[in-house]
Amino acid sequence: MADLIAEIKALEANAAAAIAGAADADALAQVSHDFTGKKGALTGVMKQLGSLTPEERGEVGKAANAFKNKLDELLSAKESELMQAKFASLAETEFLDLSVTPPEYAAVRGSGAHSGHTHPITQTQRRLEEIFTSMGFSIVDGPQVEDDYHNFGALNFTDDHPARDMQDTFYTATGHLLRTHTSTVQIRALEGMKPPLRIIAPGRVFRYEEVDASHEHTFYQMEGMIIDRKVSVGNLLHLMQTLLTEVFGREVDVRLRPGYFPFVEPGFELDMKCLVCNGSGCSVCKHSGWVEVLPCGLVHPNVLRSAGLDPAEWQGAAFGLGLNRLVMMQHGIEDIRHFMAGKLDFLRQF
Ligand code: PHE
Repeated sequence: MADLIAEIKALEANAAAAIAGAADADALAQVSHDFTGKKGALTGVMKQLGSLTPEERGEVGKAANAFKNKLDELLSAKESELMQAKFASLAETEFLDLSVTPPEYAAVRGSGAHSGHTHPITQTQRRLEEIFTSMGFSIVDGPQVEDDYHNFGALNFTDDHPARDMQDTFYTATGHLLRTHTSTVQIRALEGMKPPLRIIAPGRVFRYEEVDASHEHTFYQMEGMIIDRKVSVGNLLHLMQTLLTEVFGREVDVRLRPGYFPFVEPGFELDMKCLVCNGSGCSVCKHSGWVEVLPCGLVHPNVLRSAGLDPAEWQGAAFGLGLNRLVMMQHGIEDIRHFMAGKLDFLRQF
């Protein structure tokens, strides 16, 4: 019996040496196989148990188990050591240093390296999101591929409303459409949230449009909506003014005209004095001196009804800010087509 136990001890020393010398996970698996596998060294020792008394067998069995446990311990320690070494060497050879600045990068890659930044529309969108969330608004999102109900029907567009005309809307072969405005999210918010609520919904919209200096087929809006027990035109105007003052950092000249949108009553067009030409007339303001940036109004009772709200109990105000135009006013950009032209010379100015 003592011989067998001594043999197991010897196995332990050999196994420890083999593990210490293993270069990778495959080598470790081989050690495990050699010592404790079906045809491994330990099995060889155990085959000799036949000649022992039951007590002696018990002793050898204990030594064998201790050996197995020791082996497992050594194997897993070595495994994690190998793993760490592997990651350490990966970190040396395959790292991406995000803190490298353009001049350092240029030294390696040659000149012409510039650091990236957010698009001017994204910059203004984020600024507006800050302003609105500080006033208790939540930011919500909706799909860009929509159905007729969310883009038109629930927004009180009658079946024969001219805006449903193929001229304005991109339709898909499956009868869906690319949303023509972010007002779709008014409906989605009303479906998913309980009033009172305050939301903004920035996003991309699409129109089947003749493209020129002030029209694009793809542009950005930010929808805003408040639903509460009492909401007035006064609340709406205050909100609009706060917003524009914050964005431009000063009072801007605005004017309010009646505007028609099926989903608001009353509806308004809020124009601001064109900051590209300072009101003297240019291609951006179509030579009128004013630019429409903020159509708005009080939510039409039919919209509230289609969302299951009682107009006698709930009121709402909504606006649909044209982000592209606002950014054009902010920076004096004379052509809306610059935004999506992918011209770095243009983008680097912001
Ligand atoms: N959705 C309208 C448009 O894109 C703008 C709008 C939004 C008007 C909210 C009133 C209220 O033209």
